[in-house]
Amino acid sequence: MYRLIDGKAIADQVKAEIAEEVKQMVAAGKKRPHLAVIIVGHDGGSETYVAHKVKSCEQVGFTSTRLAFEDTITEEELLAEIDKLNADPDVDGFIVQLPLPKHISEQKVIEAIDYRKDVDGFHPINVGRMSIGLPCYVSATPAGIMELLKRYEIPTAGKRCVVIGRSNIVGKPVASLMMQKACPGDATVTVCHSRTKDLKEICLQADIIIAALGRPEFLTADMVKPGAVIVDVGTTRVPDATKKSGFRLCGDVKFDEVAPLCSFITPVPGGVGPMTIVSLLKNTLLAAKGEIY
Ligand code: GUN
Repeated sequence: MYRLIDGKAIADQVKAEIAEEVKQMVAAGKKRPHLAVIIVGHDGGSETYVAHKVKSCEQVGFTSTRLAFEDTITEEELLAEIDKLNADPDVDGFIVQLPLPKHISEQKVIEAIDYRKDVDGFHPINVGRMSIGLPCYVSATPAGIMELLKRYEIPTAGKRCVVIGRSNIVGKPVASLMMQKACPGDATVTVCHSRTKDLKEICLQADIIIAALGRPEFLTADMVKPGAVIVDVGTTRVPDATKKSGFRLCGDVKFDEVAPLCSFITPVPGGVGPMTIVSLLKNTLLAAKGEIY
């Protein structure tokens, strides 16, 4: 029988730990950690994520600021807003919710953020530090995955780990963390993508599969070795008339047929998703404590 990795329960547990630490900081006369979030335009997904981020800040006792701009804002104006946050001593960390409108360069925006306040961990300095194991902000989804593996005490040392997907925000960093000399880590990592040959054969060798390609129900039972650990990072919205929102979230794993084969598996929703916001909160706490400089 497989075990479900309950991301919601772990996220609640970590939030309670953060809330306790904040309480002690405030009792000791320190200021509350402060996260600012910039959102541009009205992308439905982004608005939902940002609302969750703001609400989570409240739950752990952080101060939060939501700065919303219309998608008519110019790149120059947005960069000026970033400079203001960089210079604001009250703001410990901030993020610019992606995606941005096409006329704004995401890379320019990411590089404009002071890396010491880059709690998304997207700045090249943080990415570089992460890849060589230095103190840094690790981006939210990879950090959330590592936290789940740690809290469920899932062995990773010497295991064969296959990452499907090579995005800058999930595939590449999680592959890097899984191969790092650490616990969790120390795995033998293979990164697969749209040009990979013999994907099924490679997956069948895996003790751990991290599916992060964004293709609903891509990973099927014939690709999974019995006893494997499956981490599903997919969050594609698919139309569903039975839901109030009109859609449901669909993972990259065909859960019903894959789950019976596994030792551990993350559900969608309720697996990796809830952990991502918790990682952002943890990074903001690190920022407030001045631990990354
Ligand atoms: N869009 C999707 N995921 C993320 C994230 O982790 N951070 C930001 N800033 N934007 C996102």
